Amino acid sequence: ARGAGTAQDLAGRHVVVSAGGTREYLDPVRFLGNRSSGLQGYALARAAAARGAEVTLVAANTSLPDPAGVKVVRVETTGQLRDVVVPAAASADAVVMAAAPADFRPLAVSDAKIKKASDGSAPAIELQQNPDILHEISTSRPRAGTVVVGFAAETGDETGSVLDLARAKLARKGCDLLVVNDVSGGAVFGSPDNEAVILGADGTATDVPRGSKSALAHAIWDQVARRLQD
Ligand code: CTP
Ligand code: CA
Repeated sequence: ARGAGTAQDLAGRHVVVSAGGTREYLDPVRFLGNRSSGLQGYALARAAAARGAEVTLVAANTSLPDPAGVKVVRVETTGQLRDVVVPAAASADAVVMAAAPADFRPLAVSDAKIKKASDGSAPAIELQQNPDILHEISTSRPRAGTVVVGFAAETGDETGSVLDLARAKLARKGCDLLVVNDVSGGAVFGSPDNEAVILGADGTATDVPRGSKSALAHAIWDQVARRLQD
């Protein structure tokens, strides 16, 4: 457990953490969403603050209390998340994308509530891709030395194992660290626990055994701290 003796190894650092799941509106009252609770992102924000960092937490649709000593910015859509995280990343020592941004949004958002047709027909929802925030931050690198961290929840498939797919995603995204959850066994959403492998672009793989989201958060900051330049 970490408590009074927590190392202040992030003192003087500014870190940006995203959390929660985005909503993509169809009309003023309806949206496409996902089940991300934000718990892991909030645990990351709390752990970084405990280690002395100045923390900006960008929270998408979470219903969790603001962590003490953390600047919280609330957003709803992937577009809004991008518009907050990308500028914040420009002056950050580390960016951790723990949020689940929706990959797609409706092509059109209706200004008025969509009404049900009397003939029993249903509208088709056409989607377009959202910006990839992690990819944008990782490839633009406005500031040398920023450590960029992504998350991936994977199940293996016929093209590869969980770790094969995760290694490919790490390379595709261009981030420095990828925190990989194997979700083949079932849902992790809203669970107090997590287990993961933290892959480094430098080839490292760190197993984090099943434990609290706080323990995983500290294991992630351990990896970030050792990569930060002096
Ligand atoms: N991510 C992001 N912007 C998006 C989608 C995802 O920044 N529009 C980030 C997530 O926050 C996460 C990482 O990218 O840190 C991986 O998300 P994931 O959904 O696994 O990646 P995708 O490229 O969307 O791949 P997939 O087709 O497997 O969903
Ligand atoms: Ca995705």
